[in-house]
Amino acid sequence: MSILEGLNYHESILDTVGHTPLVRLRKVARDLPCPVLAKVEFFNPGGSVKDRIGLAMVEAAEREGRLKPGGTIVECTSGNTGLGLAMVAAVKGYKAAFCMPDKVSSEKVYLLKAFGAEVFLSPTAVEPEHPESYYSVAKRISSERPGAVLMNQYHNPANPEAHFKSTGPELWEQTKGRITHFVAGMGTGGTISGTGKYLKKQNAKIQVIGADPVGSILKHYKETGQMSEAHTYKIEGVGEDFIPTATDFDVVDRILQCNDHDGLNLARTLAREEAIFVGGSAGMAAWVALEVAKTCAPNDLVVVLLPDTGERYLTKVHNDEWMRDNHLLDPSNMRAGNVAAGKAARLRTLFKVESGEPLKKALALIQQHDVSQLPVFKGAEVVGTLDEGDVLKTALANPAALEQPVDAIMAAPLPIVAADESADVVAKLLATRSPAVLVKTDGAIKSILTRFDMLQFIAGGE
Ligand SMILES: Cc1ncc(COP(=O)(O)O)c(C=O)c1O
Repeated sequence: MSILEGLNYHESILDTVGHTPLVRLRKVARDLPCPVLAKVEFFNPGGSVKDRIGLAMVEAAEREGRLKPGGTIVECTSGNTGLGLAMVAAVKGYKAAFCMPDKVSSEKVYLLKAFGAEVFLSPTAVEPEHPESYYSVAKRISSERPGAVLMNQYHNPANPEAHFKSTGPELWEQTKGRITHFVAGMGTGGTISGTGKYLKKQNAKIQVIGADPVGSILKHYKETGQMSEAHTYKIEGVGEDFIPTATDFDVVDRILQCNDHDGLNLARTLAREEAIFVGGSAGMAAWVALEVAKTCAPNDLVVVLLPDTGERYLTKVHNDEWMRDNHLLDPSNMRAGNVAAGKAARLRTLFKVESGEPLKKALALIQQHDVSQLPVFKGAEVVGTLDEGDVLKTALANPAALEQPVDAIMAAPLPIVAADESADVVAKLLATRSPAVLVKTDGAIKSILTRFDMLQFIAGGE
């Protein structure tokens, strides 16, 4: 008897693909009429839903005699399919070469290289027919190298088939057949077509809803049957500028679009409020699922598939600077303390005066440091504020007033917010009520945020 007999283990990492959990979205879906469950695909060993199709496409190529020992697996991929295929290549002893647009995050490129794969990057903004496009480069490699096989996830029936055989049955079983709406982002369309087909086969009434980024042509194509012009967008892995034959549009009841701002900010919110750390396409799918759930009845059950882990986007959607540089940062996702910390990196000191000090001291601070608001303290307490304009006006009208205590001309104190207050609240206060707010950190007032600081935080810049 083998020492391994009866033990609870897997023969290879590939056997751990699939059977991902369903997790309820709690806070982000709290006011909706029906529950929303998320199929969390980062539980796959490669961290994404694409692990499911990696093995399926390789096995299909082996069965059809196209892929032989020593062969090379070639694919155009924004990373996740590459990783699924790279794992299969490593376990089964194939070589792997991947072609992708240069907009993909560097993490994905390094990850594929870690599995021993070759990576070819192409410019994002060229037409698919262009010889430098990643589609063309992949085709060239697969035709020039002996034993190389293009997996062609966009047109490979093994892609939707993998979801028909795994994702669909898992969802049907996990929801005990109670699922009424299935939402998934569309790239190759494999996920939505295969899963949707299986679910509809069990219950034809199940609604299958595609999520498409603004800029992609898929929604327009579904509605009109016509091609349209694509525009660039930041959400990765979903949306297309051509029609993949792996997509079965008859399975998709409708497609909703989501813009970069809403999708990416929801991906950030999912981390903060649900501790579900996913990529931008998951934020987009979740945004569409919440839109769908708004129109549902209490007996409905919306399930959304979240394709991959957020770890692949630490320099993008989950990076404040990147979000800010791309004008995508939503202040409601940030705290006053974050804005204050950003300001402290440029300016460490909180300039202030003490009650009873002469106005000339305030004037000197205003002139030297170019500040527009000066809080007036009495010990640890804030008792008033001096506005640059008021100080200058008073000094001009009556130079003798410079010797008077600041208390004579100070206005009511600025509003105080806690460091963990939403930056959105700060932005609203600044827009409507006050030229600046004070931020309390660890029980003490440590910073002041003006409209300029807030704007600089939202818009980025020096
Ligand atoms: C991150 C990410 N999300 C979503 C998708 C869409 O899945 P599908 O290609 O099955 O439509 C992909 C596909 O490439 C992806 O990489």
